[in-house]
Amino acid sequence: VSHTQRSLQALADTATGPNMTTPRQHVANLVKEALGSLFPDDDGMEPLVAACTNKFGDYQCNNAMGIWSKIKGKSSDFKSPNAVGQGIAKALPASPLVDKVSVAGPGFVNIILSNSWVEERIHNMLVDGVATWAPNVGVKRAVVDFSSPNIAKEMHVGHLRSTIIGDSISRMLEFCNVEVLRRNHVGDWGTQFGMLIEYLFEEYPQWDGSSEEHAVDKLQELYKASKKRFDEVPIFKEKAQQAVVLLQGGDERYRKAWQQICSVSRKEFDQVYKRLKVSLEEKGESFYNPYIPAVIQELDSKGLVAESEGAKVIHLEGQNIPLIVVKKDGGFNYASTDLAALWYRLNVEKAEWIVYVTDVGQSLHFEMFFTAARRVGWLPKGTRELPRTTHVGFGLVLGLDGKRFRTRSTEVVRLVDLLDEAKSRSKQGLIDRGRDDEWEADELEQAAEALGYGAVKYADLKNNRTTNYTFNFDQMLDVRGNTAVYLLYAHARICSIIRKSEKDIEELKRIGNVNLVHENERVLGLHLIRFPEIIEDALTDLLPSILCEYLYNLSEVFTKFYSTCKVVGSEEETSRLLLCEATAVIMRKCFSLLGITPLYRL
Ligand code: ARG
Repeated sequence: VSHTQRSLQALADTATGPNMTTPRQHVANLVKEALGSLFPDDDGMEPLVAACTNKFGDYQCNNAMGIWSKIKGKSSDFKSPNAVGQGIAKALPASPLVDKVSVAGPGFVNIILSNSWVEERIHNMLVDGVATWAPNVGVKRAVVDFSSPNIAKEMHVGHLRSTIIGDSISRMLEFCNVEVLRRNHVGDWGTQFGMLIEYLFEEYPQWDGSSEEHAVDKLQELYKASKKRFDEVPIFKEKAQQAVVLLQGGDERYRKAWQQICSVSRKEFDQVYKRLKVSLEEKGESFYNPYIPAVIQELDSKGLVAESEGAKVIHLEGQNIPLIVVKKDGGFNYASTDLAALWYRLNVEKAEWIVYVTDVGQSLHFEMFFTAARRVGWLPKGTRELPRTTHVGFGLVLGLDGKRFRTRSTEVVRLVDLLDEAKSRSKQGLIDRGRDDEWEADELEQAAEALGYGAVKYADLKNNRTTNYTFNFDQMLDVRGNTAVYLLYAHARICSIIRKSEKDIEELKRIGNVNLVHENERVLGLHLIRFPEIIEDALTDLLPSILCEYLYNLSEVFTKFYSTCKVVGSEEETSRLLLCEATAVIMRKCFSLLGITPLYRL
């Protein structure tokens, strides 16, 4: 495999065009120049620049302390970390970006951006579109493996989390001009099919694929009944095991039954995807089956595979248990399939980043087969070098009782029911506000969907994904608090401010300018231009929660601005309407990256 190994950072550094570079990167570029002129012999010095959390600056450079600990005691012009900071501050090249520079404590260099630069950036975004703010993440093509339920088994809330998180990650990557292969790695090849099909044939001896279609309609029931027989009747168990061999060997009647079962499951999954407006391409486990033998062969030829109790395994340093790649009975398993799928994604699909979204319970599995892939040379040693793989793990969904989420009547929650309930509760809320009198029926319907499904998505995405989260309808549908409902209202309110001004925004963009006069206007403007960095950060750690937090804070800084700055009818009306519009544009972009449909009036 001859993948060129480049670091993400190196690629990010070569970002082209003024808008592709984030404000943070612009500041870092200035700092880099300063470091280069101060320490010409040391060319490995990377600028450390972050957004300020205090009011002394907008961005700060944190290099001084580290440099001080390197040069301290050696002959040098600098007598303290603060002096190093002063040196950096003085060496910063003159730039239209910077208004003021100051040095604090042990050499933190605080940089205040010039208003005119911030104003122009916002205005350009309004004119040229928010796409010009997409950061470059240095990846051309990625695979995002998400949702991935198992055929004939239930699609549970864990799969819902995977669907929501995976979709958001895909959307963020797509925004950054990465070609994303959205993959549904459905479990369509497991041993459960032997028992399902054998049961089907025993119950419906006439079954031939065209007749008795209803036989597999109620898949959950078929699954339960066949599982029961499997556990209770030894000869059935034996037959079921033979059925797997027949199916995987390509027997026509077994294959037909398998296809029918898959298509019934698929229809159920699609109902969920349709409601959530998530698009995915199914490439199930069965797809990779033909590639497994050659992949095992390659691992074997590189000396990685050992025999253990009749199975073929890969021993991995630091792991107590080996990775089984061929079972005792000669069959392949989850890990063999994942190795073949990884091979395919790297070599056929030429993906540079492969992201897997599952619950944290599967972390060990991913860690193990990633390590195996590194050892066979498919992946570079450095985990941030390309091509790279990342497991995006998430916690459990809990019910109000603090236990694994279930509904009262059934063991498992039917996802479709859950989404329907979110929608109907939202609809009721709108009716209580009298919207059914003012709106057309389909407008009411669409708003109820946007609110209900948006609430479910946002409640999931706003948490750091690795923690468990409690599924709570009342909380997620609350109009106050950090919810999608609150945010959708906030956005609709901004749209109504613009509507009520009766001004043509396109006209204002042509003739007007953004002027950050009031302090709260500046805070809002600064928050707006940070959007590209937030996307960069959210993608660095694959944490959509970072974007949620940004969006929530945006609505808060907007509220502060709006409560102190008169918009319509003021002297600053044009500039302030443009700020309203910029806020609405960025809010909508956030919604879209989170998979939430924005509403323009509520
Ligand atoms: N079907 C698996 C499950 O339900 C998830 C598959 C995740 N993707 C993968 N390539 N292993 O747990």
